[in-house]
Amino acid sequence: MDDNYINQLFEERRSTVVFSPREIKDKKLASLFEAARWAPSSYNAQPWRFIVAPRNNKDAFSRVLGLLSPKNQEWAKNAGVLLISLAEVTSEKTEKSNYYAMHDVAQAVSFLTLQATHLGLFVHQMGGFEREKVNGQFNIPENFQPVTAIAIGYPGELKDVSKELMLREMQSRSRNPLQEIVFTTKWEESYF
Ligand SMILES: Cc1cc2nc3c(=O)[nH]c(=O)nc-3n(C[C@H](O)[C@H](O)[C@H](O)COP(=O)(O)O)c2cc1C
Repeated sequence: MDDNYINQLFEERRSTVVFSPREIKDKKLASLFEAARWAPSSYNAQPWRFIVAPRNNKDAFSRVLGLLSPKNQEWAKNAGVLLISLAEVTSEKTEKSNYYAMHDVAQAVSFLTLQATHLGLFVHQMGGFEREKVNGQFNIPENFQPVTAIAIGYPGELKDVSKELMLREMQSRSRNPLQEIVFTTKWEESYF
């Protein structure tokens, strides 16, 4: 095993723009939320909530799709399921705001994403959606704030998408090196 070994799931995950409109069975879908449910959260508050819109529920799917930016709609329309993640930013019981709510929702989405990857599914998160319309459209209390829209699906085929999406899908992916992100006691003094 080489020193930079990471689990294959982390290597396989990516934000595809080429989805197949294949249905995702409810049993598989449930396992994604089961994984999300086991994420850690500050004071175990579990501030995550999800609106789920499978493509076979035409009303729900088109309502969530309609909230996405036109650019995101171009590829997300082929996803098997669309989600909106929400954070309980103010506790209903204590009326205290939860600084970590967004952080914890992101962790739950991360768990969901890796479980999806494990099942051969791809997950693409989006900030490009009309989040100010979500609470009104889905009758959600004000102490919840929409975080991201999320497309989930099986991989599609490059030949079925526009040239623009094909090129985007084939683009190389990059990350900042460890030297730029992990510091020791002096800021910007690399640890590795
Ligand atoms: C909070 C968040 C918002 C994002 N918003 C969008 C979006 O609106 N549209 C989009 O195409 N991708 C969006 N992305 C996907 C990122 O562009 C993508 O994760 C990044 O380019 C790295 O690529 P990778 O996920 O394939 O590694 C978003 C990702 C996150 C985590």
